[in-house]
Amino acid sequence: MSTVLTNSEGWKALEKHFVEIEHTHIKTLFEKDKNRGQRLTVKDLGIYFDFSKHRITDETLDLLINLARDRGLEAKRAAMFSGEKINITENRAVLHTALRAPKDSSIKVDGHNVVPDVHEVLDKMAGFAAKIRNGEWKGFTGKSIKNVVNIGIGGSDLGPVMAYEALKHYTDRSLTFRFVSNVDGSDLAEALIDLRADETLFIISSKTFTTLETMTNAQSARSWALKQLGNPSAVARHFVAVSTNEKEVMKFGIDPQNIFGFWDWVGGRYSMSAAIGLSTMIAIGPDHYHEMLNGLHEMDEHFRTVPLHKNIPVIMGILGVWYNNFFGAQTQAVFPYENYLKRFPAYLQQLTMESLGKHVTLGGEKTNYQTGIIYWGEPGTNGQHSFYQLIHQGTKIIPVDFIGFKKSLNTLTPHQDYLIANMIAQGEALAFGKTTEEVRKEGVDEQLIPHKVFEGNRPSSTFFLDTLSPENLGKLVAMYEHSVFVQGVIWGINPFDQMGVELGKVLAQNIIPELLDKQKPIAHDSSTNALIEFYRQ
Ligand code: F6P
Repeated sequence: MSTVLTNSEGWKALEKHFVEIEHTHIKTLFEKDKNRGQRLTVKDLGIYFDFSKHRITDETLDLLINLARDRGLEAKRAAMFSGEKINITENRAVLHTALRAPKDSSIKVDGHNVVPDVHEVLDKMAGFAAKIRNGEWKGFTGKSIKNVVNIGIGGSDLGPVMAYEALKHYTDRSLTFRFVSNVDGSDLAEALIDLRADETLFIISSKTFTTLETMTNAQSARSWALKQLGNPSAVARHFVAVSTNEKEVMKFGIDPQNIFGFWDWVGGRYSMSAAIGLSTMIAIGPDHYHEMLNGLHEMDEHFRTVPLHKNIPVIMGILGVWYNNFFGAQTQAVFPYENYLKRFPAYLQQLTMESLGKHVTLGGEKTNYQTGIIYWGEPGTNGQHSFYQLIHQGTKIIPVDFIGFKKSLNTLTPHQDYLIANMIAQGEALAFGKTTEEVRKEGVDEQLIPHKVFEGNRPSSTFFLDTLSPENLGKLVAMYEHSVFVQGVIWGINPFDQMGVELGKVLAQNIIPELLDKQKPIAHDSSTNALIEFYRQ
């Protein structure tokens, strides 16, 4: 096998195949195979995954799976699950799957079984969450906690806020949850505006405990709390931390007892099932939290064991490569037809784009092919009245993931039927469109016909589940995590580092003193200098 992806036999076979089917309409594929809608589906773990409305044939799938296999998917998957240091640029294992492994399993990093450590933290989280939920944990003035504020950014925010919103139905409504991430002071100010310090708990979530945004917000929250509570020892009752950096946490004044740890083998964007999920556990309770972990684990097992042709994350991953590298798709849309999943696309943006936005291979060579696609989305049906026009009749190809649930968590007739009818109809309209003849038959004025034609042939996947339970949320999260892995393997890049976020951080650190001290000489480019001068004035 050539190590250069585009020189490999598998790639070349796909290039040839692409030319053959590039212009084949999804409608034709359905006409040729009356069973396609049933056949190109996977039903497992209560997920009905329909991938029939894609611009693929059986041969496409075979070729893509061969490519994945040739790129070493199975061996690399095994290496990840077994704790090998596959994050080679950071010399780290990648074991978010260990965070949801059953108690009796054994997964070793450097010869040490990490599963007992994981469960020790989970038990500690459960004990703490129970105390907050039942009012046993008292603040500095003896009051129970009514508000929980998670301060974190990136993976230390997006997972918690997404899970909180997604599982709101299961949350304790007597508690108020707020999530602060932006270094823009308005974020913190608005989060605290109606809260009292004596009944507020801050969870400072930061893997490194050095992130500028989080540390700035944490210090301001500390000042806000101490202004009301008057005594530095109050910090220990109102601040806890989720971090791998005990030393820095203790410097902040947090009681070491109240540090919930995790490990360098958990990437930030893969950490919502680590202690970063503390706010989630307080919100939904330990039992529901464990259901979510079960869902994650079930999908891990599906990914690890199910043959590639029936493996949901594998199919998602290879379809990603197909559209990105062969059809030249620039973006992938995710439309949950479930309002509680409103933050799911934002969560997926970090997961997918921080993971797959790489232009060099693991070997350090610049890729001569496209990698990570742009993820975006909004809950249906809102998007239909906004940007769907471009997907239906625009000039770009945008593969869509529809996510829907049979049962609503709020049974308000006829809402659910309308919602799901819309989801199903959108997939149908995108794939099959409406021809000139069909429009003409409706008696439409000749001049208007071109405007009313829908070309169709727009690809989509549909993920249909029973209801938005903690377990099903877990399955969806792990499903996307592993689809990212599949794409990373095919492209030969490292989906587990994020060096691309560093430069901006370093430059900001240079500019901060230049904003604070107006006399400080500045020596950037002319544009940067002018912007700094404008701010200084
Ligand atoms: O800047 C990117 C990043 O490193 C993300 O990968 C991470 O999720 C986020 O910052 C937050 O980092 P931390 O948890 O260390 O504060």
